[in-house]
Amino acid sequence: MTTDTSPDSPADDLDVFEMIQDLAAPQPAYRRLLDLGGVATPMEGVVMVADRDTVDHVLRHHELFSSKIELGLGNVRPLIPLNVDPPLHSRFRKLLDPLFAPRRMDEQEEDIRNRVNGLIDTFVDRGECNFTEEFAEIFPSSVFLGLMGLPADDLRLFLDMRDGVLHPEKEDPEAMFDPEARSRVMNRTGTKIYDYFGALVDERTAQPAGDVISRFVEAEFDGERLSRNDILDICFLMLIAGLDTVSDTLTCMFAYLARSPEHRAEIVADPSCIPQAVEELLRWETPVPMTSPRIATEDTELPNGCPVPAGTSVLVAIGAANLDEATCPAAGDVQFDRDLNRHLAFGGGVHRCLGSHLARRELRVTLLEWHKRIPDYRIKPGHEELEYPPGLRHVKDLMLAWS
Ligand code: HEM
Repeated sequence: MTTDTSPDSPADDLDVFEMIQDLAAPQPAYRRLLDLGGVATPMEGVVMVADRDTVDHVLRHHELFSSKIELGLGNVRPLIPLNVDPPLHSRFRKLLDPLFAPRRMDEQEEDIRNRVNGLIDTFVDRGECNFTEEFAEIFPSSVFLGLMGLPADDLRLFLDMRDGVLHPEKEDPEAMFDPEARSRVMNRTGTKIYDYFGALVDERTAQPAGDVISRFVEAEFDGERLSRNDILDICFLMLIAGLDTVSDTLTCMFAYLARSPEHRAEIVADPSCIPQAVEELLRWETPVPMTSPRIATEDTELPNGCPVPAGTSVLVAIGAANLDEATCPAAGDVQFDRDLNRHLAFGGGVHRCLGSHLARRELRVTLLEWHKRIPDYRIKPGHEELEYPPGLRHVKDLMLAWS
């Protein structure tokens, strides 16, 4: 395995995958990857890019680095818009972007605030909670159900569908190590997801209800409507892209704040710093450490001269790029007062996160309401050893306590 594959640089032995597998604290590994040149070839046919310049290059050149890949998450068609390249991708985004624009999120803010406080009500007097289970997992899904116009009673079903695709080992422990068992659970869940949203699309087609699904049904681009399958492929992606990511980010952020009284004190003393705190914690924690892989569409090369043959899988390490001093001075420090924070936690280029405004709103409102009501908290004694299981970065059973 080699790093810095520019033609005139010495290759260095390094197990890149092992290096970045410390999900609890990946930053030192990112630093090392950057110090070694920011480009690595962990195996034949695979390149990992980590420095900001190269990451920007890959994300911005979608014609050279395609997103049309088979994710194998129980879906039978490409997910829209993630696995679609321009120009078709741009047409989908033109239609979807307004539905998740900041103005739409303004309309959701009161609902989001009520949901945050409703959940805090359930444990605030107890002086402790399992933050992962009692807040982070439930909150984004409940917001999402509201947005999609779905009944609150479907929450458990929704979480089960999400887990069947993203955490199949929860349904069948064999799926942790056995790829076939994994595919079985994912495919079974995929069918349930198509059936669930299919019935909903049919209902909203017959009787629009002013929610997001109804807008998908009614939306037109260039005089054309989305097909039923298009809508299902969008909903499938929403389910996996919009729920876990926010839950995971919340656990990473609260684990950080619970262990950093000085940063917590900054938020409590001056809540107006919360938008910047959210951006900085997104940069530092980068809960989605890599985008989905890209595939080189032709023989090309990276800005450092590293050749990339057609068909190469390109892994884009946005977590490492967020520590690159070239765009973020003192990148190793967590500073809530940065004037400029051009982090890549939501990706970049045409596939930049569709739900970033929703996610930001959820994170900001949570930080605001939580610190009003529970300003001083810590990891519950006896639970300081935090577990970050495989997958996106998240803390299992984050136990918080306050008095
Ligand atoms: C803090 C929470 C979130 C993080 C860290 C996050 C991160 C990301 C990243 C890194 C990408 C780029 C993937 C790539 O280039 O391969 C992405 C894309 C996407 N995200 Fe998010 N996301 C979050 C929340 C959400 C939410 C709430 C939604 C729900 C609407 C959402 C929907 C999407 C969609 C649909 C895409 C694909 C966009 C496209 O291909 O054009 N995300 N997200």
